[in-house]
Amino acid sequence: MKAYSSARDEFQGEAEIFMDANENPYPSPYNRYPDPLQLKVKEKLSFIKGVDVSQTFLGNGSDEAIDLLIRAFCEPHEDSIVITDPTYGMYAVCANVNAVDFNTVALDENFDLDIEAFPPLDNAALKLIFVCSPNNPTGNLMSRDRIIFLLENFKGLVVVDEAYIDFTESKSFTTELARYSNLVVLQTFSKAWGLAGLRLGMCFASREIIAILNKIKYPYNVNISTQELALEALENVEKTKSWVQEIILERERLSKDLSALSLTQIVYPSEANFLLVKVEDAPSIYRRLMEQGIIVRDRSNVKLCNSCLRITVGTPHENDRLVNALKKLSIR
Ligand SMILES: Cc1ncc(COP(=O)(O)O)c(C=O)c1O
Repeated sequence: MKAYSSARDEFQGEAEIFMDANENPYPSPYNRYPDPLQLKVKEKLSFIKGVDVSQTFLGNGSDEAIDLLIRAFCEPHEDSIVITDPTYGMYAVCANVNAVDFNTVALDENFDLDIEAFPPLDNAALKLIFVCSPNNPTGNLMSRDRIIFLLENFKGLVVVDEAYIDFTESKSFTTELARYSNLVVLQTFSKAWGLAGLRLGMCFASREIIAILNKIKYPYNVNISTQELALEALENVEKTKSWVQEIILERERLSKDLSALSLTQIVYPSEANFLLVKVEDAPSIYRRLMEQGIIVRDRSNVKLCNSCLRITVGTPHENDRLVNALKKLSIR
């Protein structure tokens, strides 16, 4: 397939007069198309993440990368992917939108990968395995050696979604990119970086895989203001680090406070910026918190999450409000 060749693909660099892209010549901060390959952002990122620019794809959220990976590597109505259950919902949605079958493999009783339960890894129609680590909504990391097992025994791509990696001490799988050509790592600016509204996601993989994603993406998939604001955030890594530290401290405090409530059955350990909490009657608690203006996520219909709420760690004040509201519910 021949990729679309945009004006900015055909000429890069500085010039006095641009008459090549049918833009409006009058001053406006956004009269020009953005850099299609976001090189300034990638160069800065490469310095921070230690991954080469040629091995980095940026998209309109990591959701874009999830969709493009399925579109690029799966034949509709023929190929399939594997996702775990429970996990982040967009893998199944993107598979459905692209008419690609998905096999769900239940996590084990520790919410870890259950390798024995996987379908045969040598099935030629199986093209992608999505592993979310730390996992949404369970909050735990998947065992590193089980992910390595998949990388070593599966010829298709293993996509490790690290949306929540900044909230754990564990090292990123980007450190394994040189060893495994079938590894794809997803990260995002939506969580630790505090930029969910900008829509910017990262995908790290071999240069060959990244070249394919760049070939099929929309030409200008990341707009100018997103690129500029992301660069600004990358210049200010210390701010992100201090938010992350605060969120981790609050996660531990919130976990303790929630554990002490009589309506709480289990607060699962978390390596992310949320807690999965098993309570007496999740739908009712969800509704009663909502009546007090506090919105959490009711996950009680999700596999292995029976009667669970997923609670994003807030500011100290927000966490206190939540705990006080729940205390009142416990007394009633
Ligand atoms: C595991 C996981 N991956 C990806 C995303 C989406 O990230 P983005 O905002 O970059 O599209 C989320 C958002 O909740 C998530 O939980």
